[in-house]
Amino acid sequence: MQRGLLKLVPTGLLLCGGLMLAGAAQAQGKAKDPTADMRAVLASPADIAEGKKVAQSSCANCHGMDGHSTGKNVPHIAGQRPGYLYAEMRVYQAGGRPDKAMVDAVKFMNDDALWKVAAYYGSLEPAPPVAVDPKAAAKAAARVDPVRAGKSVADSCGGCHGETGVSSMAGMPNLVALDPKHFYDATLAYKNGQRKHDMMKTIAAGMSDADLKNVALFYALQKPEKAKTPAAGDAAAGERAAAASCSGCHGDRGVTSSATVPNLAGQDAEYFIEAMRAYKSGTRSDETMKGAAAKLDEATIKNLAAYYAKQQPMPTKARAPLSTSEWVQRCDRCHGVNGNSTDPHMPAIAGQRADYHEKVLHAYRTGERKSSAMSAMSSTLSEADVEALAAYYARQKPRSVIYVPLPSK
Ligand code: HEC
Ligand code: HEC
Ligand code: HEC
Ligand code: HEC
Repeated sequence: MQRGLLKLVPTGLLLCGGLMLAGAAQAQGKAKDPTADMRAVLASPADIAEGKKVAQSSCANCHGMDGHSTGKNVPHIAGQRPGYLYAEMRVYQAGGRPDKAMVDAVKFMNDDALWKVAAYYGSLEPAPPVAVDPKAAAKAAARVDPVRAGKSVADSCGGCHGETGVSSMAGMPNLVALDPKHFYDATLAYKNGQRKHDMMKTIAAGMSDADLKNVALFYALQKPEKAKTPAAGDAAAGERAAAASCSGCHGDRGVTSSATVPNLAGQDAEYFIEAMRAYKSGTRSDETMKGAAAKLDEATIKNLAAYYAKQQPMPTKARAPLSTSEWVQRCDRCHGVNGNSTDPHMPAIAGQRADYHEKVLHAYRTGERKSSAMSAMSSTLSEADVEALAAYYARQKPRSVIYVPLPSK
């Protein structure tokens, strides 16, 4: 039956609930036998009965006969999409997932046993989701929004740096358009004395690491504007000097794409001049800038300051982190509504154990488990996101799907 059926797959399968399924054939070349995963998806009751025997002898110890896990880090597999279950067992066999228990369990199994046991577990009723834990819910609700937290720190900086980081007081640096990493490093440099400024040292010392990261992000997300302060030098002469010796690092018109080289576009001229003098004299110690500043006379520095002050700063690459529900929208694009995938090759994540889910997201992030889609997704998740997403999906009701081939025309 397999050959004829496979042709039908991309045009649509009838799901139990009457849903149509498109794009089912995304096995992504994982399975050696490309038809075996579809056999798991479209297994007969007799196949499933044979799969049950395999489960009894080789899997039930850990996954239970019902596929509802009771062990930490052991996934629920009941009702999981059969094409996915089959493909993952092939991955364990091929050494793509290092879990020793699983590798040992499937090492010597033939393809027939694999797709039948996948069909068996896929046909079972999923484990019930976990109830909402009021403590965890309170913790999730209290999760700080780093941008809002950054704004409340910035309230104490606005008197000097301007409310949104746009300076209107000569001598005060613009704080907009700075990469958060540079901002962070600059503030730490005051704290540890590498940059000498008593007032900023005191201010920096009063900030926790989290405060510092949050405020850096807040300013990075503000609309970039030029400092509203005067600049006296000759900007045209400054432009020539900049092209000769600065733009290689600081970019065209003072806009850099590097996280470690500060943006100079729109910077307050007086602060700029002070900074250059400090590099020259060594009170601001930085090997990179020392050489560039040493050659410059006062007039050139002033011209450079005037030139850079006139340039339009550009938005940084920083982005506000997504909330859990914004993440969920993205995850559901592939994993189905509330994590209930309808693609037989895409794992459902609804109702999955949170401990296992967290472990897996870490494995994608470190590359221990390989998937280009999931490596990209997991690399941008914070630890708090990982916890929140695992807890969210553990509470979603898992729904099983039965795949039935449509008759051909
Ligand atoms: C000794 C305990 C043990 C046995 C026996 C065992 N498993 Fe597992 N299984 C695990 C653990 C632990 C994991 C999670 C491993 C990981 O993180 O990669 C797992 C993961 C899986 C996965 C991946 C699930 C997912 O969502 O990606 C599948 C599929 C699976 N097992 C099926 C089976 C089948 C079928 C059998 C029997 C042939 C079996 N297992 C036998 C412990 C076991
Ligand atoms: C009393 C005025 C004042 C206040 C308040 C103040 N700053 Fe500053 N800040 C300065 C001055 C002056 C400089 C330039 C010091 C120097 O020459 O190195 C500076 C420099 C900086 C720099 C370095 C900018 C760069 O381009 O390298 C950062 C970052 C910074 N401040 C962050 C903050 C933050 C965050 C706060 C609030 C928590 C704050 N400042 C509050 C006066 C202030
Ligand atoms: C080899 C790369 C390089 C070159 C060339 C270079 N810079 Fe820099 N510049 C840097 C780096 C890196 C920093 C950050 C140093 C620090 O943290 O103190 C910096 C910092 C600065 C700052 C301080 C900005 C702030 O927000 O505090 C000014 C002003 C500056 N450069 C101006 C210039 C000018 C003007 C020239 C040309 C004469 C120049 N730079 C050439 C790499 C360079
Ligand atoms: C672009 C599609 C896509 C998006 C978006 C996506 N995933 Fe996945 N996900 C996959 C694929 C494909 C796999 C199977 C990869 C493999 O074989 O290891 C997977 C696997 C997983 C697994 C492993 C399931 C198991 O049982 O072991 C988890 C957990 C998971 N994704 C969670 C998430 C979360 C959380 C998000 C949102 C932050 C997300 N995914 C977003 C495509 C996606």
